[in-house]
Amino acid sequence: MQSAISKTLIEWYKKNKRDLPWRNTTDAYTIWISEIILQQTRVAQGLDYFERFIRRFPDVLSLAAAREEEVLRYWQGLGYYSRARNLHAAAKEILERFNGTFPDRYEDVRSLKGIGDYTAAAICSFAYRQPYAVLDGNVYRVLSRLLSIETEIDTPAGKRLFQEAAFSLLDEKEPDIYNQAIMEFGALQCTPQQPQCLSCPLAGNCLAHEKGIEKSLPHKQGKTSVKERFFNYFYIQNKGSVWIHKRTGNDIWKNLFELPLIETDKRLSLEELQQTEAYQKLFADVQRIVISSSVFEAKHVLSHRIIYASFYTIEIDAPGSGFSEYRKIATSEIDDFAVSRLTLRFLEHIHV
Ligand code: ADE
Repeated sequence: MQSAISKTLIEWYKKNKRDLPWRNTTDAYTIWISEIILQQTRVAQGLDYFERFIRRFPDVLSLAAAREEEVLRYWQGLGYYSRARNLHAAAKEILERFNGTFPDRYEDVRSLKGIGDYTAAAICSFAYRQPYAVLDGNVYRVLSRLLSIETEIDTPAGKRLFQEAAFSLLDEKEPDIYNQAIMEFGALQCTPQQPQCLSCPLAGNCLAHEKGIEKSLPHKQGKTSVKERFFNYFYIQNKGSVWIHKRTGNDIWKNLFELPLIETDKRLSLEELQQTEAYQKLFADVQRIVISSSVFEAKHVLSHRIIYASFYTIEIDAPGSGFSEYRKIATSEIDDFAVSRLTLRFLEHIHV
């Protein structure tokens, strides 16, 4: 039987839904492509990519027959390219295992490369109206608030509990519309920071709203856990020059400059550090290395990280092959480069 909550969600959805192209089809292939694009991409950004991708690769066969380079070109700019590689591999798999017809059994869909619980439930419910409940970030938020569930969503117990809650609300006659409705409700009405409770048709059924705790839900374990990292930096001098490079990793220090760095998974002594592959690679072919006995040690506390850093000051007679990825600059120039606050603390310490 349809619950009062799912009835309200579906009514809300019919009035408020956005008109999105993947909602006007029951073709499993098309739905699959849209869901993979939307995995790490906002709807507004994904729309054009979806349209172009479907125009060029309208079905399993055209995607399976394409070259990977071309598939990646259609993905260019979306990021997380393993999504495109997995799509391509799964299309070939569908050709081989299912004669090119998109499978309709949940287990078969779930077995394809790049398809997890969420995507399999989305495809089976949207395309085939099978009674699988989707659980994505929006759904976790809506359920945690409606039912006032404070269990952390990123724990095995949380996953089980939310899965059960999602199934208990699922409208088995219209699982396709119900799933779209609860996701859309999370995206538009029950938003993370500013939920629109004043205009919410479910405010009277919302246990978190009753307690006034809706904005703090859902709870997440990962958010508060602080990770420790161990950084070993090298201030390497040679004839008035030092070596630096630009960080490219997608983190808070992206595009900042830093000294050559070896990250280790625990605190290492200099002797232990010298045994690591990374150290031997960095100093490969360097004949003479003089390491200053004065090591600058710093603890750098960020919101979700504690970085324990050791800065070694080193004099070498000539650079070796391990320096090729670094940039040589005059010691006096180093102030012209943007560095992290941690590196700045070291530079101030040595009065550069
Ligand atoms: N995000 C993930 N799947 C979606 C869908 N089917 N519609 C809108 N946003 C989504």
